[in-house]
Parts: sequence; structure tokens; C-alpha cells
Amino acid sequence: TLTQAEKAAVITIWTKVATQADAIGAESLERLFSSYPQTKTYFPHFDLSQGSAQLRGHGSKVMNAVGEAVKNIDDIRGALAKLSELHAYILRVDPVNFKLLSHCILCSVAAHYPSDFTPEVHAAWDKFLSSVSSVLTEKYR
Ligand code: HEM
Repeated sequence: TLTQAEKAAVITIWTKVATQADAIGAESLERLFSSYPQTKTYFPHFDLSQGSAQLRGHGSKVMNAVGEAVKNIDDIRGALAKLSELHAYILRVDPVNFKLLSHCILCSVAAHYPSDFTPEVHAAWDKFLSSVSSVLTEKYR
């Protein structure tokens, strides 16, 4: 679980990320698909070329969900319950992929806000994204 200081760090950087959430979401997916091309197998029905409407649309949905988790930072499990069922039971995404996407979101945030991305913020975001990932994969266990 996140400490009060970590929660505060996540919320602070999110207020910035939220203003460019769509761009950061699309960039995170671009990083995911180019660095880890095997992840593309979950999206056979998508046009994954850089800047495609589907990529941007999906990036926006993903970051919206991250925003919901930030807003409900004390109840991430409750906030993402439906999404957890979707990823586990319907999409059957292998949990390893959540680490990869989290890493790509972290890189995108760092690239957009280098001066805000202190070691403390980095650690807090990493921990927060791990919590989001655990919630989205816990139905597997
Ligand atoms: C769909 C969020 C990780 C594959 C979605 C949707 C959201 C979302 C909000 C749309 C749900 C809806 O339309 O009702 C997230 C978040 C993640 C995450 C917050 C982790 C931070 C992943 C990973 C993969 C993945 C790691 C696979 C590599 C998919 C697929 C869909 C989907 C295939 C359905 C796309 C479609 O057909 O529209 N996700 N996701 N997700 N997600 Fe995730």
C-alpha cells in the first residue's frame, strides 16, 4: 500500500498528466507495441500504426481508467472492479504484460515532465501502477 507521501506525489503529478492524458496514453501504447511487439497480439482488430485513431482512442480510455484509480486511490480495487473482470475473464491478458505497459506509462510521464519526475515521484508512480496492475490481474489467482 502507498504511504500518504506517495499518494500525494501520485496525485500531484496526475494533475499535470491529466491535462495531456490522451497524448500520454497514445504514446504509452506506441512504446508498448514498438518495444514489446508480442503485446500487439491482443489487438489484432486494431490499426496500430503510429497516431491511428484507434491507438489514440484506446490510449485515452486507458488513461481515463488510470485517472479513476487516482481519484479513488484508497479504493483502487473498487474503482477498477469491472475492468479487472474484463482483463481477466474476457480478454485473458497475461499478467506479465501489465508490467510492460506500466513501464511504458512511466517512461511517457517522465518524458513529458522531466523536471517533476524526481526519484520520489518515480518510485511513487511505480508503486501506484503496480497496485493498478495487481487489481487488474488479481482475478487470475
Ligand atoms: C480494454 C485499461 C492493461 C489489453 C481496456 C479498456 C480500458 C483498459 C479502460 C476499455 C474497456 C472498455 O471499453 O470497457 C487498461 C489499464 C491497464 C490495461 C488501466 C493497465 C494499466 C492492458 C494490457 C493489455 C490490455 C497490459 C494487453 C497487452 C486490452 C484489450 C482491450 C482492453 C485487448 C480491448 C480493446 C478493444 O477491443 O477495444 N483496457 N488496460 N490492457 N485492454 Fe486494457
